[in-house]
Amino acid sequence: MCGIVCYVGKKKAKPILLEGLKRLEYRGYDSAGLAVQDGNHIHCFRTTGKIIELEKKINDLDICGTTGIAHTRWATHGEPSEANAHPQMDQDENIFLIHNGIIENYHTLKKRLEKSGTVFRSETDTEVLAHLIALNFDGNLDEAVRKTMAQVEGTFGLAVIHRHKPGEVVVARRGSPLIIGIGKDENFAASDVAAMVRYTNKVIHLNDNELASLSDEGITISTAQAKTVERATETVEWQPEDAELNGFPHFMLKEIFEQPETIRNAIRGRLEPGEGVPKLGGIMPVWEKLKECRHVVIVACGTSYYAGCVGRYTFEKLTEIGVEVELASEFRYRKLNFPPNTFIIAISQSGETADTLAAIREAKRKGAHLMGIVNVVGSSISRETEAGIYCHAGPEIGVASTKIFISQLTILTLLALLLGRHQKLSLTEGVEAIKALSALPDQLKRVLAQDNYIQAVAEKYYRWNNWLFLGRKYGYPIAMEGALKLKEISYIHAEGYAAGEMKHGPIALINPEMPTVAIVPKDSMHEKMLNNIHEIKSRRGPVIAIATEGDEKIKEMADDVIEIPQTLDYLYPILCVVPCQLLAYHCARFLNREIDKPRNLAKSVTVE
Ligand code: G6P
Repeated sequence: MCGIVCYVGKKKAKPILLEGLKRLEYRGYDSAGLAVQDGNHIHCFRTTGKIIELEKKINDLDICGTTGIAHTRWATHGEPSEANAHPQMDQDENIFLIHNGIIENYHTLKKRLEKSGTVFRSETDTEVLAHLIALNFDGNLDEAVRKTMAQVEGTFGLAVIHRHKPGEVVVARRGSPLIIGIGKDENFAASDVAAMVRYTNKVIHLNDNELASLSDEGITISTAQAKTVERATETVEWQPEDAELNGFPHFMLKEIFEQPETIRNAIRGRLEPGEGVPKLGGIMPVWEKLKECRHVVIVACGTSYYAGCVGRYTFEKLTEIGVEVELASEFRYRKLNFPPNTFIIAISQSGETADTLAAIREAKRKGAHLMGIVNVVGSSISRETEAGIYCHAGPEIGVASTKIFISQLTILTLLALLLGRHQKLSLTEGVEAIKALSALPDQLKRVLAQDNYIQAVAEKYYRWNNWLFLGRKYGYPIAMEGALKLKEISYIHAEGYAAGEMKHGPIALINPEMPTVAIVPKDSMHEKMLNNIHEIKSRRGPVIAIATEGDEKIKEMADDVIEIPQTLDYLYPILCVVPCQLLAYHCARFLNREIDKPRNLAKSVTVE
């Protein structure tokens, strides 16, 4: 939820930390702070609001220190205020600490500390960590952190510096990501590679219950039990410009327009056109069991969950596998009872979503096999699953997920197709699918070419406070995802519904001031969707249809029609969602919303 960035080296830390914070701002943006060590003095600054506020505060100050830690916050305990911003300090201001996650036993620890005279200056759970590390400090900072780790329950990614340990940063992790970046005479740590990718592409992922001490000479990693850990560095594929706007006004728009390339990246090297079979190297470790599997449970949150909902229909169409899709936050508390050889597929952009991680851990305890569809290489979900498929979509910075959804849909299709070809699909069906998949990037460009028209449609309706999104079968999850996009970035109330449910309630809402976005491609549900549109029009509700090119009937019925090229039934979601993304984007823009950083939301939800 929050972002951490640390530097130790020979250059001035302040600009590197500020730059890193800007890259992480999408993870949390209600307050920010940094601490830079200059000999035995530590300069610490905190502000509420965006990173720009912190920058204004310290821009003119010449801070020479070459070691520092910085944080951007998304409040969980205590309102966004300067006192609650990180770094948090101990009473003597020797320890400066930043923290992502939640300390679950902080009430007990706080009471105990207060009894022995500690005065708290914030409402955060984080402050207990600073006091405990100070109490446990005996000249050795990583030992003090290790002792503290044994006292706290909950999750943390943390970084700490000590006034009397210049040139050293100690970081630790339990349940919240922390990655170390290796440079020449300098080292970095961050909660997300985006903060470091400008300086290094050599990284080491810290595992849960590990800590590391960083200096300009090197790093040492050890476990909570003080066992030294040797770990090889990995190379990150992302390029620094992936995290730049490159002329777009918002990351969300840039990422929407990247989507033809996103599909290419998801299918590159994975198609065997002649055989009609995809190649997915990442699932080879489980292939023998997977191809016999007849029961899959997809678990995910947010937009990734809606990708899973589309995946259910695709799997059921192409394979003989029965599929359940469940919100990870619900799944983790169910009494699980699977048939033998059940596969759990966790879908996650970040690979760090707390509920999704908890769900796979619970499923593993109950004997299921685990697979991941993940974007962030080396993330927790990718490491805790037996096998998986990476999205290779590069960083997604806009909080509202767009290109990753497209990537997840593409990969779910590849997986279903691969299994289907071993179960029931003919060569002809396989070849047809691969041909249609390969055509998608260019077809998507045709959808994006209508951006000006979609903007005009948004201009017509953005003042309306309640919207309905309707679809059937493959279109139903797209209706839910379309409604989610609109509400999260424009704050317009929107509902996504299965069109067949209209007469069980939502039709009562229809009036001339409630626009309906109908997902109505020429698929097997087309006629039934037309009936729904009739019902809406006879109640004078405006209809924006997302329909297949050349569908003359829909033009007579709907008020506005956004056209998508023709494809196979199960690939329509990939094309239909893009107009929904653009509609949401333009409505939000007309309403002057903070598109990339919508209020109260965070990109990566690493707490329950
Ligand atoms: C947050 C993000 C969403 C995302 C969801 C699941 O709510 O704002 O965009 O869909 O988390 O995240 P994941 O990283 O697991 O896909």
